[in-house]
Amino acid sequence: MKLLHGGDYFPEQWLTRPETIEEDFKYFKEANINTVTVGMFAWSILEPEENHFDFTWLDQVFDKAEENGMKVILGTPSGARPNWLASKYPDVLRVNERLEQNRFGGRHNHCFTSVNYRERVRIVNEKLAERYGHRENLLMWHLSNEYSGECHCDQCQSAFRLWMQNKYGTLEAVNQAYWNTFWSHTYSDWSHIHSPNQLGEMAVHALNLDWRRFVTDQTIDFYLHEKAAINKYSTDRPVTTNFMADTEHLIPFQALDYSKFGKIVDIITWDCYPAWHNDWETEADLALKVGFINDLYRGLKEMPFLIMESSPSFVNWHDINRPKRPGMHKLASTQLLAHGSDSVLYFQMRASKGSSEKFHGSVIGHVPPERNRVYQEVASLGERMSQLDGLVGSMKQSDVAIYYDWENDWAIKDIQGFSKTNMNYHHTLHDHYRPFWRQDVNVDVITKNNDFDGYKLLVMPMMYLHSRDLLAKVQAYVEAGGTVVYTYMSGMANETDLVYDGGTIPGLEDMLGIVISETDVYYPSQRNQVKFQDASYEVHDYATVFETTSAETLAIYGSDFYQGQAAISVNHYGKGQAYFMGARTSDDFLSKFYGELLDQLTIVGNSVAKSSDSVSVQTREDSEGTRYYFVMNFSDQVQTVEVPQGLVDVSTDLPVEATLALKGFEAMVLTSK
Ligand code: GLA
Ligand code: ZN
Repeated sequence: MKLLHGGDYFPEQWLTRPETIEEDFKYFKEANINTVTVGMFAWSILEPEENHFDFTWLDQVFDKAEENGMKVILGTPSGARPNWLASKYPDVLRVNERLEQNRFGGRHNHCFTSVNYRERVRIVNEKLAERYGHRENLLMWHLSNEYSGECHCDQCQSAFRLWMQNKYGTLEAVNQAYWNTFWSHTYSDWSHIHSPNQLGEMAVHALNLDWRRFVTDQTIDFYLHEKAAINKYSTDRPVTTNFMADTEHLIPFQALDYSKFGKIVDIITWDCYPAWHNDWETEADLALKVGFINDLYRGLKEMPFLIMESSPSFVNWHDINRPKRPGMHKLASTQLLAHGSDSVLYFQMRASKGSSEKFHGSVIGHVPPERNRVYQEVASLGERMSQLDGLVGSMKQSDVAIYYDWENDWAIKDIQGFSKTNMNYHHTLHDHYRPFWRQDVNVDVITKNNDFDGYKLLVMPMMYLHSRDLLAKVQAYVEAGGTVVYTYMSGMANETDLVYDGGTIPGLEDMLGIVISETDVYYPSQRNQVKFQDASYEVHDYATVFETTSAETLAIYGSDFYQGQAAISVNHYGKGQAYFMGARTSDDFLSKFYGELLDQLTIVGNSVAKSSDSVSVQTREDSEGTRYYFVMNFSDQVQTVEVPQGLVDVSTDLPVEATLALKGFEAMVLTSK
């Protein structure tokens, strides 16, 4: 097995220039490209008229790839429909949040419920599967592209009502779950239920949550519909679709619950586009976010994933699209491998000449490869990747888990109260990830699907929306000897965002050995302190006022009406321990706190020492116990790092000294073999 190197390729844009396609394959080979992903936006070429198909060009792509020893990932074209289809079947077009029907245009502009759309997709997918399902170099199916968005048409409204009926059975149950007597919102007929929309209702929190759940389910249903068409002729190749992150800040994609979707796909693949070299954070700070999200997406199936798209240099959709500095491409791509990817695939293999993506980074750009720095850097990465076949299938081993939940994220966004401007769930997750990152401790970011057993430490930041099932799982984990950390803003609401009697989910306070009385919030410039051991640390945004029952107080508040009361506590529960961090603190406290916890739990990092926090060392391990060390310098200065003795540099096959000096933006891969 090889690491995949290649990506999205659109030869259909070059059919009048066959010599260009010839040339492309020559350059691919030179750059150690072994995979192309094709077909995603080719519907108007594949089916220029209804039921008239033309596969000649795609046959040739499969042949060319085969001649060059390359694999093909075949996309289905549902991400963008042809003009003829939208004019003949206008209901395939989406109805937006203002309840207006879109015109033909853009892409991803389709209804997931539309009977006509599903039928046209079925037909074209079956044709593709029948023709290519058994090609030897077909590696996998890539359904559609970046499923996203929602539709508010009548067909979708009916489907939503049906979904509600299945979930709740009766309108009384819905009214209860939604607290609908508030503002006289009681439903007395199923037809009263509408999707949240800008002309009507957007503030019934449970409705918003259920709509997001429905959109996730409907998208999965569409995916399964596409898959069934493929499976009619092709059942022995993996099927997947490419996931996303939101914005250049790499926040988990918000529109769909990937912890649910992830269970359905055969392998997680996703599109990673960090804004390297921006002017609001250092490369190291951004690298932390890249690490976090890859650790999350790896956890969705607890297996290596694929980077389906990344840019060889810059994108075209950030506000400012800065090229990667020399060396950054190899470093950034090595980081993706370090966190569990078995590929570095790109958008795009050749830049288009026209329309909106002509200035997006590409392996082959407008400037010829011979004098194109980006192409040279891709080729140099290709060489590194060709030395890393042993990595395929290996996993990260982590003692620490940080818990993330999509539904909690949606609910937190809706909270009207506390400090709306400072809710900062994602920042908080990163804040709790940072101390481990700095100490080069592997972390799994997990969701409700993952087992907790096996982790020495489980961190649950801001779990506002908290189900009873989740609590039972955490209790079992702690009882058996696990260590959990809860924070402020936890356990307040149930799955339909109703506040629990007493203000906190029954059982949580008991496990934590505390009783919570209120949550204080601060204006941005206001501060409190926690006094922990001999030092004082700043508190901002949130402070939970609570008393200990069976817990031991570890830190107290420095001021305000709860001065001297517990701020941080720990309770022995079963064979384990449950920490409560009542206040939002800064980095200094979190580093100190988690540093001590790591020592106490005997969790060790991948490095022994290093000259700067901008160096990251991550590891993967194969089934035979061979460990790969990815040593990465995210600063532009030379940095030194001490790694365990006896490691070998993969690129030279020679042993390295325990203390390494890395050039600016340099990345090395070492192995324990
Ligand atoms: C997404 C899409 C691609 C392309 C890239 C550009 O990831 O899937 O088709 O538009 O963005 O970055
Ligand atoms: Zn619709």
